[in-house]
Amino acid sequence: MVGLATPDDAAVWRLSEDKAIVVTTDFFTPVVDTAYEYGAIAAANSLSDVYAMGGLPFLALNIAALPDNLPVEISAEILRGGAEKAREAGVVIAGGHTVKDTEPKYGLVVIGFVDPRKMLSKGGLRVGDALVLTKPLGGGVTTTALKQGKASDSDVKEAIEWMSRLNKTAGQLALEFDLRGGTDITGFGLLGHGMEMANTSNVSLSIETAKLPFLSGARGYAEKGIFPGGAFDNKKYFENNVRFDKKLDEPIQMLLFDPQTSGGLLLGVPQEKLYSFEKRAKELDQPTWVIGEVHAGQGIDVQ
Ligand code: CO
Ligand code: CO
Repeated sequence: MVGLATPDDAAVWRLSEDKAIVVTTDFFTPVVDTAYEYGAIAAANSLSDVYAMGGLPFLALNIAALPDNLPVEISAEILRGGAEKAREAGVVIAGGHTVKDTEPKYGLVVIGFVDPRKMLSKGGLRVGDALVLTKPLGGGVTTTALKQGKASDSDVKEAIEWMSRLNKTAGQLALEFDLRGGTDITGFGLLGHGMEMANTSNVSLSIETAKLPFLSGARGYAEKGIFPGGAFDNKKYFENNVRFDKKLDEPIQMLLFDPQTSGGLLLGVPQEKLYSFEKRAKELDQPTWVIGEVHAGQGIDVQ
């Protein structure tokens, strides 16, 4: 059902009328200084691609590349962080593979299931849908500031809390409200993943920066120009189809290209469902922000 032809979050293969298998993998180098949190973030990020397809993760395998001289306590903490996060998701880690490498890398292969009739995809947005985001932006600038030794402890703690957070409840909401358009915000940033959705859904998005949630330190780091390289790549690749309002300054424009690690879901919610969607999200303790709307046309307008 989903393969190389579309830019979706996972591969999907139909098994029967009401069951399809979802397969995905992700792994990356450390984004934070603490091994346990690194493992938990990498696992939450890998699991997210199943939630982003409207699926439920079921089984996972570890993928790790670890330096020879890394103390065994550190590698054990990375794997423990991943295992405990997987358990929180109701997922069993059933095996995996480790190789030697100079820079650590860790992530999961995740297998899940989705009802093909309830699948979320990047092509599922409809004109009139409200765009809802489920985690704040600014993870890339904050972790880059951390790498440069310029991040405050409280900003790092805040970023870790959000990055470690599963998209499980956000995925549950998508299922409960029978949504069709969704993805998770990761390496291409809000505008990159938004553009993928706009293109595959054949619509345009309008985003209001005043409504966007950001981590506390994000704006400050952006003003100091502390962006990861990926933000500039994203800008180069996606800016042609983005129309920024003239009043928006450079730091805020760049923040929308900021690559996220384990970011939130971006969901299209039909207007008639929005009120009950937000009410249910509160009940489930799932933060949501309405950040814009889907229109006819192409590309992304940012006000
Ligand atoms: Co994804
Ligand atoms: Co992915």
